[in-house]
Amino acid sequence: MGGILAEKKDSLSHITLIAIEAALLAGEILKLGFGTHFSISSKTGKHNLVTEYDHKAEKAILDFIKSNVPSSKFLAEESGCSGKEEETLLWVVDPLDGTVNFAHQIPVFSVSIAAERKGEVVSAVVFQPITHELFVAEKGKGAFLNGQKLKVSDVKKLDESILSTGFPYDLAKNPNHCIDHFVDILKLGIPIRRLGSAAIDLAYTAAGRFEGFFEVKLGPWDCAAGKLLVEEAGGKVTQWSGKPFDIHSKETIFASNGQIHAETSAILNRKI
Ligand code: IPD
Ligand code: CA
Ligand code: CA
Repeated sequence: MGGILAEKKDSLSHITLIAIEAALLAGEILKLGFGTHFSISSKTGKHNLVTEYDHKAEKAILDFIKSNVPSSKFLAEESGCSGKEEETLLWVVDPLDGTVNFAHQIPVFSVSIAAERKGEVVSAVVFQPITHELFVAEKGKGAFLNGQKLKVSDVKKLDESILSTGFPYDLAKNPNHCIDHFVDILKLGIPIRRLGSAAIDLAYTAAGRFEGFFEVKLGPWDCAAGKLLVEEAGGKVTQWSGKPFDIHSKETIFASNGQIHAETSAILNRKI
């Protein structure tokens, strides 16, 4: 764990510390692989990629957690559900969020690990190995970046905001209005970024770098950790309609600093 969290170590739960260790381990593996030659294949569509490093990082995370917390079950992007159904601690894991970036030597990708107990995410870690930024949140205890407390931005108007977004891999077949809503906001002159890692988009919203982030159909592994980060940094996460957002639902998601939520939801929620 080195100096990255030294002063916070005593105040975090065992589960959060395990999530951190696992994310740092996976981050090292991804860093070693980044920019080298590795195998790449397609999953559900031509552009939904998986590399040998997604698998290597996921195996390292699951092996590490299993050996430290035997009473665990998993929902991991590449290997799906594993562990005993009766266990109450569920680890939701995206070993490499931003695979398309990683495969194209773009250094914007992360490891995302969340621990969920009885349907509630209690620990969250997003690690960006290239920038060495470790985002950590614990339910009720706040969110931190490399040990420093995080707070969402204080911007009050959409017009003064910068947002981020992303698009599902099946966009060509199922536009699901997300392009129209993206264009609606773009036409207002609001800067929008598409980083290619939803976990980073959410972590940056928690850190006040973005005022908000919206997307559709994210997997639980994309957003479980990021949602807690935003909430623990004082922000708000809902569906576009303002209804509660469930990480397992694949519904629309809008995360913000809270201040621009109503104004932006009204645009995202308009019927086309
Ligand atoms: C993807 C990224 C991307 C988002 C996609 C996700 P992956 O995850 O988070 O930003 O737009 O919806 O599927 O495939 O790189 O793990
Ligand atoms: Ca992902
Ligand atoms: Ca992934």
